[in-house]
Amino acid sequence: MNSENILENNRGVKILGTGSYSPPLKITNDDLTKFLDTSDEWIYTRTGIKSRHYNEGRPNHIMAVEAAKRALENAKLCAAEIDYILVSTCTPDFFFPTTACIVQHEIGAVNAACLDINAACTGFVMGLDLARNLLYGGYDRVMLIASECLTNQLDFEDRTSCVLFGDEAGAVILERADKTFAACMKAKGVGVENPVLYSKTEYDLNSPFIDSEHTLPDYGKRVQMSGTDVYKFAVDAMPEAAKAACEKSGFSLDEIDLLIPHQANVRIIQTAVKTLGISSEKVHTNIETHGNTSSACMPVCLDDLNRSGKLKAGMKLCLVGFGAGLTYGSVVMEL
Ligand code: UT7
Repeated sequence: MNSENILENNRGVKILGTGSYSPPLKITNDDLTKFLDTSDEWIYTRTGIKSRHYNEGRPNHIMAVEAAKRALENAKLCAAEIDYILVSTCTPDFFFPTTACIVQHEIGAVNAACLDINAACTGFVMGLDLARNLLYGGYDRVMLIASECLTNQLDFEDRTSCVLFGDEAGAVILERADKTFAACMKAKGVGVENPVLYSKTEYDLNSPFIDSEHTLPDYGKRVQMSGTDVYKFAVDAMPEAAKAACEKSGFSLDEIDLLIPHQANVRIIQTAVKTLGISSEKVHTNIETHGNTSSACMPVCLDDLNRSGKLKAGMKLCLVGFGAGLTYGSVVMEL
């Protein structure tokens, strides 16, 4: 890659503030054994998860709004100063309106444009890349929220999937900055014959005009996944994307100060980190106490790091994720 391309990729962003919200109800692995044939030992050794938070049937947007308010407070901004709200979610309350529009109303962001994106668990890194492009397209302050209420979609009779997930939301507020920023976003789209990891839209066909030969097969209405296929995909996809983003940034993998991976499974993270040759001390995880909260994992990690004073100007961050789709991607950014 020539230096011109590297400069083009280096129009970066500054994080003005972060916020997050984890619902108060904490569910341990032992709590799950009360209604599922599972054990703390099975879940912890295979995933690294000990507990997660549940939103108790409340709508997703409540978490998004709370994370947004906390990010505004952290950035010392008022809602009217935000000119774009991007919400990553694969578990929205409505087909429409967007969650972004609901957040706009609740926080009073009267000057904001609003858009939801869905790249499943990869949504936050994809959102960062989009937010950066919006900032260089003329918007001055973008609020990027990732809010996921997986419990509204899970099958609590399916022990292979429901034990993995939790609910939460995170938000960051971004503006343009003369910093390095490089992204690598990818997808290996799967067809409807074998969706691998999915939750089908829940609606009944009640039109009098149905072409019954071409309706979708009956997938069931809740989250389903082929864990082994997702695992195999993830351990290759995460290093591939992180390496490519690093290369575009002009930094070497050794120069990365902090790696924030998608918090899906501690074994996937360890394998990917080993392939990348990054020291495990540079890897931030919270999966033990949060579980997998899809696209919300990364901004919640960022908020924890920010509030504990661990994000320092000049640090080089690598965020890398994967998810249903199958999608994957990585952002390397200088703080
Ligand atoms: O954001 C992306 C989300 N998805 C993922 O990240 C999933 C990636 N995949 C994984 O993390 C792993 O594949 C799992 C943790 C989901 C499963 O681990 P595994 O080592 O691949 O287990 P397995 O599916 O091969 O199942 C092994 C056994 C089976 O029993 P048998 O057939 O050997 O008797 C399962 O029925 O474990 C059983 N099992 C369970 N046992 C206790 C499956 N789920 C459970 C459970 N508790 N919750």
